[in-house]
Parts: sequence; C-alpha cells; structure tokens
Amino acid sequence: MGSESEERGAARAPTGTRDVLWPESWQFESSAARFAALVQGSGYGLLQSPTFEYSSVFRKGIGEENDVVGREMYEFADRDGKLLALRPEGTASVVRAYLQHRPTLPWKAWYATPLFRHERPQAARYRQHHQLGIEALGVADADMDVEVVWVADTFLREMGLADFSLHIGSMGDGTCRPGYVAELAAHLSAHRDELCDDHRLRLDTNPMRVLDCKRPECRGVTAGAPRLLDHLCEACAAHFDRVRAGLDALGIGYELYDRLVRGFDYYTRTTFEFASGAIDAAQNALGGGGRYDGLVEMLGGEPTPGVGFGIGLERVLIACGAEGVDLSGPPPLDAFVVDVTGGGAARDLTIALRRAGLRADRAFDGRSMKAQMKLADRSGARVALIVGPEELRAGTVLVRPLRDGAAQRQVGTADVVGAVSGEGAFSGEGASSGEREGT
Ligand code: HAM
Repeated sequence: MGSESEERGAARAPTGTRDVLWPESWQFESSAARFAALVQGSGYGLLQSPTFEYSSVFRKGIGEENDVVGREMYEFADRDGKLLALRPEGTASVVRAYLQHRPTLPWKAWYATPLFRHERPQAARYRQHHQLGIEALGVADADMDVEVVWVADTFLREMGLADFSLHIGSMGDGTCRPGYVAELAAHLSAHRDELCDDHRLRLDTNPMRVLDCKRPECRGVTAGAPRLLDHLCEACAAHFDRVRAGLDALGIGYELYDRLVRGFDYYTRTTFEFASGAIDAAQNALGGGGRYDGLVEMLGGEPTPGVGFGIGLERVLIACGAEGVDLSGPPPLDAFVVDVTGGGAARDLTIALRRAGLRADRAFDGRSMKAQMKLADRSGARVALIVGPEELRAGTVLVRPLRDGAAQRQVGTADVVGAVSGEGAFSGEGASSGEREGT
C-alpha cells in the first residue's frame, strides 16, 4: 500500500506531463494532419518506429556527455536486462531504422512522435512533448538544407504564425571544426575563472556548449571569443553560401547566428532554429534542426549525409494562442439522435447516418427527453433528430435545427439522411412540416 499522497498521485499524470482532452486535442490532431499533408506533398513518407530504443542508439548518436543523454534520458533495464531508453529525440531513431532496413537513398522520412526528457518542469517545457519532424538521408546538396528549412517555415506559416524568426548558423565539419574548437578552448581557458560554475567544470568536455550559455558570466567571456563562421573551411563556407542563397531565392528571411550550437553532438554544417517572438524567451524555440553528415557513421554505418528538423507541437500551439490565431474547433456533429421510444430508432438511425458518411451521435440509457436534448445541445450538432411516440407511429423524424434558428420539420424516416445531408432537403419536397410541443 502506498502512502495517502502516493495514492492520490495514482490519479494524476506524472509531473511534467499532461492529458489533452477533447476538444483541445483536436488542435493536436488537426495540426499533425496539416503537417502530414505538407510533408507528403514534398516527397516524405511516414516512419513509424518504436517509442523506445536500445539506449546505445542515443548514447552513440547524441553523445554521452550531452545533457539530453547524461541528465534527461529516461533509461531503464527491461525484464531481460536490456538497457532501453524512451526516445528523447527523433533523429537517432530514424538513422537506426535506416541502418536496419536500408531503404533506397535518398530516403525522406517524416514522423510525429512523443518524446521524453526528464527536464525541470516549467511552462512550455514538458517531460513528454511531441515533435513533428522530417529527416532526409543520402543527400549532401545544400539545396536539401534549403528544402528542409522551407518545409518548417511553411508549416509554421500554415499554422497561422507570423511572429517568429529563423536563425541559421554552421557548425563546420571534421576539416574546420577541430582547429576552431582548439582556438575556442584556448580563449575560454584563459578566462576560465570568469565562466559560470557549470561551464568552468565542463569546459573541457565540450567547449562549444559554452557559446550557448545564456548566463551573463559566460556571455561576457564568449562575446570576445573566435567565431566559427570565420573559421569555416572552403567546402563548408561554399555549402553555407549556397544555403543562404537558396533561402534568399525563396524569400525566407533569416538572421545569422554564430552561437547556434544546438543541443546535440551530431550536427555538422547547417544548423537552424525558429524562435517565436510571442512567447517567453526562455522557451521560445518552436523547432530546430540541421545537417548531421556524421550520424550514420556514429551509429555504425558508412558515411551518409543527413539533414532534418523537429518542431515542438506544444510550443507551436502555445505560440498560436499568444498570437491570437484562431485554431478553429473540431467539425461539429451533423446530427444528434434523441429517441424516447426505447432506443431502437436511435440505434438504427444513428448507424444509417454514419453509414451515409454523416457525423452522428445519440443518447443512451433511456434518458428523459429533457436530458437527451441537453446532450444534443452540448454535442454541438447542427440538428437534433427527435423520435417520440408520435413520430414512431407516423414513420417520421422531427428535424430540429439547433444552431441557426430555422424552423423544425417532420421528415419521413426514409428521407432523414437526405434531409441532414443538404440544406435543400429541409425545404424540399417530401419534407412535411409540423410543430411539436413540450420538447
Ligand atoms: P530539439 O531542438 O531538441 O531538436 O527539439 C526540437 C523542438 O522540440 C524544440 O525547438 C522545441 O520546440 C521542442 N521541445 C524540445 N524539448 C521540449 C520540451 N521539453 N517541452 C516542449 N517542447 C520541447 C531535436 O530534437 C532534433 N532531433 C531536431 C532535429 C531533427 N535535428 C535534425 N533533425
């Protein structure tokens, strides 16, 4: 037996997670559908892969020293003693699936998935969040980076967002980054005592992470640090120029950001992030991504370039709220069947409506007319279809519009589907009008 507080906890979602009930869940559903249409129309196919992987996928792919792996990953031994992890990000899983199945390259995959990070819970930062993402493997061309950014930008705009900015940078590659990191490390070491506590200790494991630190101590030191964009090798510089030219050609505005380190060790060359101007700066990243030409090798394959992004669905919806975007609700029901004659008419009529492609629901448990009408109102249905003893005798249904104040009518049972399908049927022939009292 657990303690009283644990027992109460059993009826609560775990810290940092949340339930999303209808109709709010419609926002998730419809956004994901919008994303699916966009990416499928751009040549990406859905990858559905397990929500957990062997831990080594993330340990090798993201990096042992990385916060997401070292501090936040939900990792556990299963009953066979295998070390597994709930997916903390999507890219390493896609690459693992590529290595397992070897689809023909180029391989363009998309996903919509929950992700798990044991973060300090705070507004807009959850322990389970959802990402919509794409990954393109097997293409080194800078124009693929442009395509990927275009897809993300287009999705955010299709969601109705306008107040956001795109930051892009380059992480260089194996040719230019090591020399740069050595120069950066020398600069930071010379100022070690001025860095924040965390980075003073961790400076040697990954000096580039210091560039990302927002604490004023680190900011002071990094303001004068060498910039990676000034140290790109010829090939990386040419790649970056081509990306910038592509974004310019497509009219996608961006800001250069030479601190865009991003959270994972796998990035090479292009990195980018979309930041909302409408939500709190601490959690304003709507999505981000970049190129990861070394990741397939890190997971045991042969050199294979890759580029992609992940967009945080919760963040996008929060930004929509902050920008006053009207996220229209779910389509209402077409009809709600109210039956006070025993339920048989409701059973048959509701299914007949659904078989005809209409959205229909009904009341159960032989409730009173008043209770059923309340449910009909609450359902948001366009019309209530009422079957009382009189209708049952006459072989009719009373069609009562619930939303537009139009007159109610009696309709022959055989004509109900037609009456609900089209407005014309309400006033058309075959619909006998009649008033009904007491409902
Ligand atoms: P990420 O920057 O860690 O990238 O996450 C992408 C987006 O997911 C963030 O910009 C943010 O909107 C959202 N997000 C991340 N953590 C949380 C959280 N705790 N709560 C709410 N939203 C969150 C990646 O995961 C990379 N795999 C993206 C990528 C794909 N790079 C290349 N391909």
